[in-house]
Amino acid sequence: MDKKRFEQVFNGELGGMSAKIAQDPLELWPVVERLNILQPVRTLEIGINFGGTTRIWQLLTSELVVAIDTDTSKIVVNFSDSPPPLLIQGDSTSPETVARAREHAPYDFLWIDGGHTHEIAKADWDNYSPMVRPGGLVGIHDVKAKREGPYKLFMEIQRAGFTHESFIEHKGTALIHIPNEETGGNPNNIRPFVPYDGFDWLADFVKPHMRIFEYGSGKSTLWFGMTAGEVVAVEKWAHCYETCAAELAELDITNVEYVLKPDIAGQEDAAGYSKSIHEYEGQFDLVFVDGHYRRECIEECYTKAKYAIFMDNTDSPGYQDAYSVMKSWTDGTLIDFYSYGLNPYTGEDLMDPQTFTVPVKWGSAVFLKDVYKDRDD
Ligand SMILES: C[S@@+](CC[C@H](N)C(=O)[O-])C[C@H]1O[C@@H](n2cnc3c(N)ncnc32)[C@H](O)[C@@H]1O
Repeated sequence: MDKKRFEQVFNGELGGMSAKIAQDPLELWPVVERLNILQPVRTLEIGINFGGTTRIWQLLTSELVVAIDTDTSKIVVNFSDSPPPLLIQGDSTSPETVARAREHAPYDFLWIDGGHTHEIAKADWDNYSPMVRPGGLVGIHDVKAKREGPYKLFMEIQRAGFTHESFIEHKGTALIHIPNEETGGNPNNIRPFVPYDGFDWLADFVKPHMRIFEYGSGKSTLWFGMTAGEVVAVEKWAHCYETCAAELAELDITNVEYVLKPDIAGQEDAAGYSKSIHEYEGQFDLVFVDGHYRRECIEECYTKAKYAIFMDNTDSPGYQDAYSVMKSWTDGTLIDFYSYGLNPYTGEDLMDPQTFTVPVKWGSAVFLKDVYKDRDD
């Protein structure tokens, strides 16, 4: 389905639902793009309402769309020009409905947009995501609103280590990748300790062929090792170095060159932590700055970064000098992130350091050089 046809369906010109589709086109179009590649043979939808999304899945799915709603009488879409969807009227959480959907499994794509309490959204994920084949996709709508069940479910799914993409323009849509042998999965939830929005950006940007330089090691080092082609990570603290080196060995991650640059007593950065990037030939696709001497590192790494420089904690008073340097660069775009984020050491959102009960937001930013737009890799 190309963009024009998508817009026609969305606007109600091809049996779609125009304003009655409960979606933002900027969030739905990326899903359609992924489905153009996935080419679903069987799709399962929970939450039909007027039938707007069901119509889109119908046009993207070659064999069968199964769609569930407690009340199918609300449907006003015209499905008649393709094999019609199989409509199941019933509560998605009831064992009878689950059993009826299972009769047509496995599915390539599952769309969850039914009951929006956490209890129902979680039951839908638990009951129906196992019916999706390895390598398939699960879309979840309304993951942005913090008080809603789908948001909480999405956080739980992330913590469980599923890789995902999210499209947050309005109510928020997430696409969860059901692992297969190729994509693996990440059961220990290894990831950089950055805000969710920053991690989304990294997950989208970092590719298997890329070369990464990292100041300040940790779970990010493991994630870059698992995700990129080649990684150099510099650490100042010996105890952090030992822990992370043991984790790299345990996970059999062999593409990380891991360097310890401790301070010499009384002489900060004497071992050349911030300048260490110049010990390596050529440029790095991404430089990740999340350790000591941030301003020095930000300044030193600029010419060594081919495309992007990412810094965490841009809202911390102690790092405003480094952040100001990032803001002064002119040959690219500074993208700021400020959101909640998973603490990969505890498996929970980062909590307020006073109460340890209230999740808190924090900032990070990436400077993306203009040359990224013209790349040919
Ligand atoms: C947000 S609407 C779906 C919107 C539709 N996907 C679209 O984008 O046009 C949610 C639908 O889920 C249905 N629903 C709510 N709870 C349900 C449940 N437990 N089982 C099945 N359907 C449910 C409601 O009847 C409603 O039609």
